[in-house]
Parts: sequence; C-alpha cells; structure tokens
Amino acid sequence: MSLPFAVSSKSLIKKHLSQDTYKRLETLVTASGFTLEKAIQSGIANPDSSIGIYLGDAESYELFSDVLTPVIEDYHGVAKPQIHQADFSPVKLSDPDPEKKYILSTRVRVARNIENYNFTCHLSLQERKCLEQDVIEALQVLPAGLAGTYHSFEGEVDKSLLFKKGDRFQEAAGINSDFPKGRGIFYSEDTRFRIWLGEEDHLRLISQESSTDLANVYNHLGQALIFLEKHLKFIKDNRYGYLTTCPTNLGTSMRAGVHIRLRNLAENRILLREIVDRHQLQLRGTGGENTEVEDCVFDISNKRRLGLSEKAIITGLYSGLLAIIDAEKTLVNNGEVYV
Ligand code: ADP
Ligand code: ARG
Repeated sequence: MSLPFAVSSKSLIKKHLSQDTYKRLETLVTASGFTLEKAIQSGIANPDSSIGIYLGDAESYELFSDVLTPVIEDYHGVAKPQIHQADFSPVKLSDPDPEKKYILSTRVRVARNIENYNFTCHLSLQERKCLEQDVIEALQVLPAGLAGTYHSFEGEVDKSLLFKKGDRFQEAAGINSDFPKGRGIFYSEDTRFRIWLGEEDHLRLISQESSTDLANVYNHLGQALIFLEKHLKFIKDNRYGYLTTCPTNLGTSMRAGVHIRLRNLAENRILLREIVDRHQLQLRGTGGENTEVEDCVFDISNKRRLGLSEKAIITGLYSGLLAIIDAEKTLVNNGEVYV
C-alpha cells in the first residue's frame, strides 16, 4: 500500500518519506504518545503543503530522525548540521532606508518551547493552562522597558490585540485545539515587545516597531531574551538549536523582516524574486504567511533559520534590503519610475 499523499503533493515529507522508512517508523511512539502518523497528517490533508510535518515533542526529532534529517537538510540547505552556534550579540547597522520611503515597519521574532511540555499540536487543555500560568509568572520579573500586560484570550480582549487562529495546515495538525483557550498575548507598555502564547509554538517572542531601525528592533529582542532565559527553560538541542513544532523554525527560530512598499518591483516580480533568492530571503504577503501583497507592501524576511547565527541573519537581511531598495530606486517601470 502506498503512502496516502496526493499525487500532486510536492511536500518535502512526501519527497523524503519512502515506504520502507514509513514501515520502520510507523510503530514507534514517543514517551508522551506521539507518532509519525500524527506528525504527517497536515501534509496528507493539505496537498499544497511545502513541508507537511509538525512534531509533537522534543523526542520526535530523535525517534523519526530517519525522515526528519533529510527534510531539515533540504529546507535549510545545510548538509549534516553539526553544533548549532548561537550569537545574539548586539549589532550596529546604519539605516537601510534613511529617506524613510520604503520600509514601514520592522519585526524580529523567535519561537520558543518550554521544557516539560509537549509541543502545541500535542497539548491537552489542562496542559495549555499550566503552561500559560508558568509564563504569566515569568513575565512578572520583566524589568522596566519590557514589562507590560498579559491579555488572556478567555477574557474580554480587544479584537485588535489578538493573533489569528492557525490556518488549515495548523488546523489539520491539531495546533488549533481548544482555541482560544489557554492562549494569550503580552504587550510591553510601549508595545515594542510582544509575546504570542499558544500559537504555533508555546511562545513567539516578538520585537516590532514602525521604524526602519533593524539593529534597534533586533537588539531589543536580544535583551528581552536574556531576562526570559533566566526564568523559563527553553527546549534546545546541540545540533538543531531551539526545537520547534515545525522543522522550518529550527536553529535560531528567528524570522527577521520588514514590511516594505515596493511599487516598481511589484511590477517586476521576476527581478524582485531574483534578488530575494540571491540573499536567501523570503517573500510573504502583507497579512503574513499565505496572504496577498496589498498596496505593494511585501513582508521580506530571512528564509534560513538553521546553520547560521542570529547576528548573521540580521546582517544578511540588512544587505538584502540595501540591494532591494537600490533596485527599486533605479527601476524604470514601463518608462515610468515611481519616486
Ligand atoms: P510568523 O509568526 O511566522 O512570523 P506570519 O507570517 O503569519 O508568521 O506573520 C505574523 C504576523 O506578523 C502577521 O499578521 C504579519 O502581518 C505580521 N508582520 C510580519 N512582519 C511584519 C512587519 N515587518 N511589520 C508589521 N507586521 C508584520
Ligand atoms: N505546514 C505548512 C507547509 O508545510 C507550513 C510550513 C511553514 N510554515 C509554518 N508556519 N511553520 O507548507
């Protein structure tokens, strides 16, 4: 019997999961009760998945390594990852958009999962609530500048504060179970530092500003992490760095990006894609992953998260943005240049 992936599927899990490997792994169960069948259910339900696998706990990465190793190497473009070298030391960068004409906002986020809990596709409601309490406690210690308010989604929450329920990929994986219970969002007083609790990973730690100052946004997140690491134990692996529900986020688990309006390049997508690929960046729509670009506002961020440090990601994004802004400025759009 062949694996139930759609014929049209081009997912990495379909590409790397042979019948033989599946046979060998299908009877294995982690100590918390997670199986390969559960891990691939999103990839099966969604033939347009590009990866198609979400893991239930840290042990899944070891137990199903026969299929995960090639998937991870393929996505991150690293052969045989060795020791993950983190470097979140502060950076100094000049302004990539000194005229403030293109970049509307900057956002740097990392994903983190907390020791002694399963990942979000494999959590009971009671476990979600315990996790939420642990995080609320840790947030009490944030110093001035980072301190703020946690808004539980179970109470009355201003709709503009919420993060969205997961998409159909996450739904099929079980990540949306009991939504919105056991979830919430934290905003520092100045709103520059945010935490999403109970989205795709236990935590998305976010530094975001309506500014063009990449270094400042990145350095602010680095500072917040120094405090949080003292009060929460994050799940980490020597080779794969921070372990995450989806293998695309392994390593630094960092996505550093900008919202940038590119009126000329929006009409010249081939050139835009060429520059983005050359700098190992990724394009997303204005509303995030799998959304459309509205009014020429692209989300441009790093594609790779494993096999390089946080510092290398932010400096790589910076160089890529210089090239993109330069192309946008010089591009003639059907004889007409937007200035
Ligand atoms: P992720 O959490 O993996 O970064 P998404 O692509 O879904 O996932 O983005 C999450 C949200 O953050 C979306 O609502 C998106 O519009 C918003 N966002 C992303 N980058 C920026 C940015 N530079 N400025 C403002 N909002 C942003
Ligand atoms: N599971 C989806 C897919 O395979 C999304 C993968 C990357 N995105 C994410 N939010 N983890 O296409």
